Amino acid sequence: MFDMKTIEKVCKECGKHYQGLEHFRNNICNECEDIKRKKEKDIQNKRFVEETASTIFPKRFKDCSFDNYIIKNDEQQKAFNRVTEYIKNSDIKKSGNNLILSGSIGTGKTHLAIAVIRYTIEHGEKTDYELDYAQYSNPYYSKYCTISEIITDARFAMSYGGDKSSLTQYYNYKWLVIDEIGRQTGSDNEQNILFEVLNKRYNNILPTILITNETGDSLKKYLGTALIDRMIETGSVFVNMTWESYRGNK
Ligand SMILES: Nc1ncnc2c1ncn2[C@@H]1O[C@H](COP(=O)(O)OP(=O)(O)OP(=O)(O)O)[C@@H](O)[C@H]1O
Ligand SMILES: [Mg+2]
Ligand SMILES: [Zn+2]
Repeated sequence: MFDMKTIEKVCKECGKHYQGLEHFRNNICNECEDIKRKKEKDIQNKRFVEETASTIFPKRFKDCSFDNYIIKNDEQQKAFNRVTEYIKNSDIKKSGNNLILSGSIGTGKTHLAIAVIRYTIEHGEKTDYELDYAQYSNPYYSKYCTISEIITDARFAMSYGGDKSSLTQYYNYKWLVIDEIGRQTGSDNEQNILFEVLNKRYNNILPTILITNETGDSLKKYLGTALIDRMIETGSVFVNMTWESYRGNK
């Protein structure tokens, strides 16, 4: 049996005197132990975020975050605030409300959408196991894709006479970004598939981030009344991003 006697010890980190178990060789006070653990967790978490980001984001966007989004005008500030308020709103899990980023090219829509997902990865709950094995991070946690990737998957499934079951993955991601909506001047098929995915996610109370160059009435027409209705019901956030392209002035 261990002798559970406590004696006065000197903390090797801060030099403070404290009462500790005699047989423990690790001479560190509780406060310093907590600080050390927190530091280790932070390092693990950072690694988890980077591993996950390089798994699920396209290389070009893998480092996009709120921190490196540069704000130069009021419109940008407004859009940035709405997006960050959206993600910090704790109701998303209950309501599954969507975020719609629309506007002209090169204004940072994709950048901000990736930043949102990065935020969820950084701040989301994780088990110790997930942190310890970050390199095996769950690829089904969230997904960035373009609408054409979804359509390709749907066509593939249907060409084999199957149903739309290859779309199942899109129904279940905790977070899904669908980029480039309306790029191919929205065929009926594209709109049907988009409706299918968004409706399933609506039923599952899962949030989706939609990105498109369509704005105003043409966006409404594109998404259709049924979708707009569901989005308004859940309190989805529409952010219009129309200013000069960032690409030219890098
Ligand atoms: N405000 C910003 N601060 C920092 N980088 C930005 C900003 N806006 C855009 N960028 C960068 O400029 C490039 C273009 O932005 P992004 O691809 O997000 O634009 P977009 O709105 O999605 O354009 P498109 O409609 O053509 O897809 C990216 O590399 C992005 O990181
Ligand atoms: Mg884009
Ligand atoms: Zn100490």
